[in-house]
Amino acid sequence: MTGLKKVKTAVLISGRGSNLYNLIKFSKTKKSPILIDLVVSDKKDAMGLKYTRKNKIKKKIIDYKNKKTAEKDLLLILKKRKIKFICLAGFMKILSNSFIKKFKKKIINIHPSFLPKYKGLNTSVRALNNNEKFSGCTVHYVNSKLDSGKIIMQKKVKIVKNETPISLDKKIIKEEHKLYPAAILKVFN
Ligand code: GRF
Repeated sequence: MTGLKKVKTAVLISGRGSNLYNLIKFSKTKKSPILIDLVVSDKKDAMGLKYTRKNKIKKKIIDYKNKKTAEKDLLLILKKRKIKFICLAGFMKILSNSFIKKFKKKIINIHPSFLPKYKGLNTSVRALNNNEKFSGCTVHYVNSKLDSGKIIMQKKVKIVKNETPISLDKKIIKEEHKLYPAAILKVFN
């Protein structure tokens, strides 16, 4: 991306924000094609919001009591700030079809399983209950079906003897922090 302007990006979160933090660090590197200009949360007390203050990034809390008005507000701020790319990072709301259409192939998500296995929540608990040999993480484009868009990159994580959901989640999140930047580079290169 040398010589080119970085793409104005919004990261959408609902909680801890470790992927947000990781993406902020990545976005500051020379090789990053994205610039994080906005962080959106549907929860005003999302822990990840602390990273906006430290890094002087604009934050916006969207009230999701009503999904239609929430998405209207979201679109408004995205337009206002000329956002061209969206990274979902632990965002717990499902975006509507009409919203996704407006950002076709411009919204990506990270998911803590080796998709198409274990879409949805509690992925590690379910993988362990099924005696899987591995789980993993996946970065994919967002389409109208939950965790089902085209896969950009994924990484397997081995499940060892005596693995617990906590130990497995720890291994997966570590891989997520490598995978998300790598997938973003892949999208833009
Ligand atoms: C990650 O495991 C991500 O894959 C999933 O939600 C979790 C968010 O973690 N979509 P964090 O808020 O980025 O720490």
